[in-house]
Amino acid sequence: MANMLLEPSRDCPLCPRLKDFRDLWREKEPEWFNAPVPTFLPPEGASSVRLLIVGLAPGVRGANRTGRPFTGDYAGDLLYSTLIRFGLARGEFKARPDDGLELVGTAITNAVRCVPPENKPTPAEITTCRPFLASTLSSMPNLSAILALGAIAHQSTVRTLGQRVAAMPFKHAGQYQTGPFTLFSSYHCSRYNTNTGVLTEDMFVSVFKDITEFLQTPRRTV
Ligand code: URA
Repeated sequence: MANMLLEPSRDCPLCPRLKDFRDLWREKEPEWFNAPVPTFLPPEGASSVRLLIVGLAPGVRGANRTGRPFTGDYAGDLLYSTLIRFGLARGEFKARPDDGLELVGTAITNAVRCVPPENKPTPAEITTCRPFLASTLSSMPNLSAILALGAIAHQSTVRTLGQRVAAMPFKHAGQYQTGPFTLFSSYHCSRYNTNTGVLTEDMFVSVFKDITEFLQTPRRTV
């Protein structure tokens, strides 16, 4: 039986620095979302999710503005076009939460739900937000693959799964089997990483090839 998905409240006070930053943006841009960004689920709900993608945290002018992970800033362009290419999303991505894009068997969340100053959450903030990631995982009874984008998302996911980071270091295109899950990892699809060539589109696509092959391989259920 899956557990209920626990999401932080709009005014979540758990990280004082992130709350202050959110209040600042609420003043500056009252029309923006400016709240913890919830997990993006497929229309069929959490029980249809087999792949969970874990990002770092909302971008200030991206998910923090629009309210949907990876929507409205550069990182989403590569992510959503790749998801559509592999049949993990359908529709057209127009970088707006009302573009009608639907995820297919896939959900997208962030290790930290609130936008951090300079895109850098502190270790304490990552730890404080982890119960929400844990709840996201346990609300998905058919989850078998997790894709962590970047080292911070990878490490927080490893800890959420009760494993030691030293035993499962981050590696681009890495794969670890842990309990019922296979954890895949990729460099984050940020503008910085793609502009500097740390992550090319081919490298990113290759990770998705691995994941879709994995998802298509029949598995024993006992
Ligand atoms: N937008 C998100 O929601 N997460 C990221 O990690 C980057 C951009």
